[in-house]
Amino acid sequence: MPVAQDIEGRPEIIRLVDHFYQRIRTDDLLGFIFNDLAAVNWDAHLPKMYDFWQTVLFRDGGYKGDPIAAHAKLLAKTDLGKEQFDRWLTLFEESVDALFQGPNADHIKRCAHDMANVINARINKIPDPRFDPANLTPEQKARYAAYKAGAGDSAS
Ligand code: HEM
Repeated sequence: MPVAQDIEGRPEIIRLVDHFYQRIRTDDLLGFIFNDLAAVNWDAHLPKMYDFWQTVLFRDGGYKGDPIAAHAKLLAKTDLGKEQFDRWLTLFEESVDALFQGPNADHIKRCAHDMANVINARINKIPDPRFDPANLTPEQKARYAAYKAGAGDSAS
């Protein structure tokens, strides 16, 4: 079986993004958010997402925007929480795996995962579990305690 290629630049990003949004548009949980609630202009959204992922992966896509605000706006119209972000991620990862394989393919999936968590946490005001003191190791707890003690001193 031929080994799938990795994501090497913009041409692969375009293939990935196009494939992913084909899936999204017909998805029973997410399709209507894009098609009906946001009435997305695909001619504008797809190139913006090429830029976005090129910026994330290769730092040269020139994306400028505010992903948090774009999604926070949707909350007024529909549920946008763990169930929706999990589905988004499943479709994204399936799209990557269907087309690509390699370090950049792995990296883009990790980035998508991290950003889905951040966007979900920010718009729904969920505390980031990585910074919940209950989840810290004893060593991290000690460092955090020292930081807090030190922060009080250095503020004066
Ligand atoms: C359930 C999950 C999600 C839904 C329903 C959703 C939906 C949308 C919609 C409707 C827009 C606005 C499109 C437009 O009107 O042009 C948008 C923009 C965008 N989304 Fe998502 N999205 C989701 C998750 C994500 C995730 C996880 C990421 C990042 C990894 C992401 C990245 C972006 C970016 C970069 C924009 C453009 C923001 C801007 O205007 O600069 N989305 N999304």
